[in-house]
Amino acid sequence: MSETWIEKRIKAGRALFHNFIQETEEEYFSDQDLKKPQPPLAKAPMTETAIDLPSDFSALAIENDFLRVINSRKSHRVYTDEPITLLQLSYLLWCTQGVKSVRGRAYATIRTVPGGGARHPFECYLAVRKVEGLRPGLYHYLPMKHQIEFLREADGFEEWIGRSLAEQRWAEKASVVFYYSCVFYRAEWRYGIYAHPTVLIDSGHVTENLYLAATSIGLGSCAVAAVDANAADDAFGLDGVEETIFYAMPVGTVAAKDQEAEDAFYAFVREEGL
Ligand SMILES: Cc1cc2nc3c(=O)[nH]c(=O)nc-3n(C[C@H](O)[C@H](O)[C@H](O)COP(=O)(O)O)c2cc1C
Repeated sequence: MSETWIEKRIKAGRALFHNFIQETEEEYFSDQDLKKPQPPLAKAPMTETAIDLPSDFSALAIENDFLRVINSRKSHRVYTDEPITLLQLSYLLWCTQGVKSVRGRAYATIRTVPGGGARHPFECYLAVRKVEGLRPGLYHYLPMKHQIEFLREADGFEEWIGRSLAEQRWAEKASVVFYYSCVFYRAEWRYGIYAHPTVLIDSGHVTENLYLAATSIGLGSCAVAAVDANAADDAFGLDGVEETIFYAMPVGTVAAKDQEAEDAFYAFVREEGL
């Protein structure tokens, strides 16, 4: 019997895990091996609207008991709908994609997260709803200069946020939603057919740092893999082939009193006796 598309899809997904032990039929050379030019370390600005972000974080109340941060990290899906400050947003961007230095003349960026071969193939886009000093709309992070650029206002903004996250309407009260794209060739240039598992592994470092950074300043966040890539790519002007959104993370203000509402998300576990 021929394989169904579901079986094929599952097989292709599992093949990602074989990575370096997967045998290739012929000797394989990446574009780096072939001395092809290296792609840029980060995407060039898409507009001329760059805004400098503050980078002195000393005014932030940062929880610096590391174990307390680790132990209190959790996914938050209920937000109190307050604005966050530009300094808080800047801190979150720094902790997740900030460029600490450049290796060589322009060989690699060394960032606040680790990355396979220091390729860092991600771009970070933002749906800013409530950030003091920023008008609501869509933005793009420019890591080389720690800036953001304003892309555009979004019509029906909140409804769009929910739609872009596969109808996860709870995210519409986030102060800001981080959307991560992958610029595939930035990793493929070096790793070719082996790039993709590494990229997926790397994305976890970015979002875990976002969880921990948000926790350390009293904000809530939740990793979201259920993204409507077409809706997100359209909004941020991405072609969905060379670059596509694949991961997102709403961040918002939270209150302890909302724990019950938060628990309601998993009420089915009790109801179904799981
Ligand atoms: C890769 C990944 C994808 C996730 N996608 C979603 C999602 O689409 N929607 C959602 O509500 N939670 C999502 N989560 C959050 C998980 O449900 C959550 O981490 C898990 O239930 C454990 O809870 P905790 O984060 O509070 O420890 C995702 C988490 C990860 C790491």
